[in-house]
Amino acid sequence: MVYEVKGGWILPNLERFLTKLEQVSVPTIPNRNEAQMNQTLEVIKTRYSCRTFDGAPIPEQTLQEIAHAGLCAPSAKNRQPWRIITLSDKALIDELDANAMARMAISSPKDHQRLMDRGGTLFYNASAIMFIAKDPAGIAHYIDLDCGIVASHLTLAAASLGVDSVICGFARVLFDGEAGEAMKQRLGFPPDFDFSVSVLLGFSDRPANPPHEPDPNKAITVS
Ligand SMILES: Cc1cc2nc3c(=O)[nH]c(=O)nc-3n(C[C@H](O)[C@H](O)[C@H](O)COP(=O)(O)O)c2cc1C
Repeated sequence: MVYEVKGGWILPNLERFLTKLEQVSVPTIPNRNEAQMNQTLEVIKTRYSCRTFDGAPIPEQTLQEIAHAGLCAPSAKNRQPWRIITLSDKALIDELDANAMARMAISSPKDHQRLMDRGGTLFYNASAIMFIAKDPAGIAHYIDLDCGIVASHLTLAAASLGVDSVICGFARVLFDGEAGEAMKQRLGFPPDFDFSVSVLLGFSDRPANPPHEPDPNKAITVS
């Protein structure tokens, strides 16, 4: 948003500046009132993995904003070794779901059973999928980490816009073997790019679940 002030001056970053101010004023006392948290922390703390989407379409502009947030992710040596491929054709999503479930029944019966117990779908009736394809030109041992950070940006941006999400690693099954190469082409992966991870997006068909319980013992302070 752009703000005009006297004499035609433009102050383009006012909104950003105000957000910073809000962040600076966050109290540091423990057990603070949730209402006082800044919005970024609130989104981080309330994002959860949704596995029951209602299938309603997500506006195109919202998808673009989410994808753009993914592109803002940091990466090793700023190689940005990724493409974010957004699929919002529901009929195709459902076709890929059936395809993936059939493959998984053969390649990973245990995971298949886990998904059957969760409702029998891989994509949980999501309205859109963002496939994060990895570029082999990245720093080899950081490429998947870089793509994982993109996935995190996508889920948090989605949550901030009222869109539910879940990271989906199981989608890998679509890209295995010879059939997987054909799938990469069909979805527009550039040559030599491989699947890293994906994010399912949509709107929950029920009230939000709580996210996992963070374990405070896993953050260690050395003094
Ligand atoms: C790399 C990665 C892959 C994941 N793959 C799947 C998946 O294929 N299917 C799924 O339902 N959840 C998947 N998840 C979601 C996790 O199960 C979920 O984040 C975890 O249970 C914690 O729950 P929360 O996100 O609600 O806090 C994945 C998460 C990560 C980080």
